[in-house]
Amino acid sequence: MTLSELLAALHAASFERGWSAHEFDTLLANPAYRVVTSDTGFALLQIIPPEAELITISILPAARGKGAGRDLLSRTITEAEQAGVTQLFLDVDATNTAALTLYRSAGFAEVGRRKGYYAHEDASPADAIQMVLSLPAQSSGK
Ligand SMILES: CC(C)(COP(=O)(O)OP(=O)(O)OC[C@H]1O[C@@H](n2cnc3c(N)ncnc32)[C@H](O)[C@@H]1OP(=O)(O)O)[C@@H](O)C(=O)NCCC(=O)NCCS
Repeated sequence: MTLSELLAALHAASFERGWSAHEFDTLLANPAYRVVTSDTGFALLQIIPPEAELITISILPAARGKGAGRDLLSRTITEAEQAGVTQLFLDVDATNTAALTLYRSAGFAEVGRRKGYYAHEDASPADAIQMVLSLPAQSSGK
């Protein structure tokens, strides 16, 4: 199994509309995209220093609620910090309580809201909450 096939399988386990292995191949060919993996999930970052966007994070359903998401997010934040990111953005579905709790607990602050941005499979709309986490600038060591 290739990395893209693994990511597609993990993604499909968590989202109504999964991304194909081919879509992951295309993303990973772009050096701005960085994947952070764990035994039970993965996170995808788009890094354009000094800013980055957390595109997605997911943990396999059976492994949720035991701190795996918190650990993976923490490693993902460290990865961004080490790449020179000082502002980490994300959009989250306002009805996604687990993700909102995870992000708030990691220090993300709500900075905006897009009304009706997401459409669920049953066509019900949900707002997108925009969040940001400020990170300390890394010293260049000079
Ligand atoms: C969001 C997600 C990654 C969290 O992963 P997890 O391993 O279950 O989270 P953790 O066990 O590390 O918990 C992290 C925090 O969220 C809270 N939390 C987790 N699941 C929760 C739930 N269902 N309801 C409320 N809070 C929840 C935990 O209590 C914990 O809070 P704390 O740090 O204040 O103690 C996981 O639920 C998931 O993969 N969801 C599907 C994909 C998704 O929606 N991704 C985010 C949008 S891209």
